[in-house]
Amino acid sequence: MKRKISKAVVLGGLLACVSAGALADEEEIIKYRKNVMKAYAGHMAAAGAIVQGKVKGSALNHAKALEATVQDMAGMFPAGSDFGETNALDTVWSKRADFEKKAKDSQAKAAAFAKAAGGGEAAAKFKELSESCKACHKDYRKEQK
Ligand code: HEC
Repeated sequence: MKRKISKAVVLGGLLACVSAGALADEEEIIKYRKNVMKAYAGHMAAAGAIVQGKVKGSALNHAKALEATVQDMAGMFPAGSDFGETNALDTVWSKRADFEKKAKDSQAKAAAFAKAAGGGEAAAKFKELSESCKACHKDYRKEQK
């Protein structure tokens, strides 16, 4: 009997560790996806200034950076990462198929922009990518003040 109890205690302790670990992982991924999103926004603003002719520079470099990092968007929103310091709406998980569709669409638009970045289609492809960001934020991110 004594042995059984101590086993239960050990097991309980282990489970507590595992769930605390999982929680920490979720906090890390929330921070991570925010940083990745901020990086997207930085490259979008920089590329936008170039394709709109406000500054000289390589839209292609920013487009390549976007294409390389706008990869597994939906993967940055695993189940359980819906609490705490996040502006993601519950719809990210409750309307998952549509969320994933919008993520894939944005990924495809980033690739298309990278292909077009050096040429005459750059501004149009940039705009399409930018719209794909907004299309997702509208349904899946808390309104920004
Ligand atoms: C498939 C949906 C989706 C797409 C596509 C998407 N985002 Fe987001 N984005 C989100 C969600 C959801 C959040 C909220 C994340 C959080 O707070 O956990 C977010 C957050 C952000 C943030 C705020 C980060 C912070 O510090 O809180 C920025 C900036 C951003 N996105 C920029 C972009 C840009 C630029 C693009 C397009 C290149 C883009 N996003 C594409 C869903 C998306």
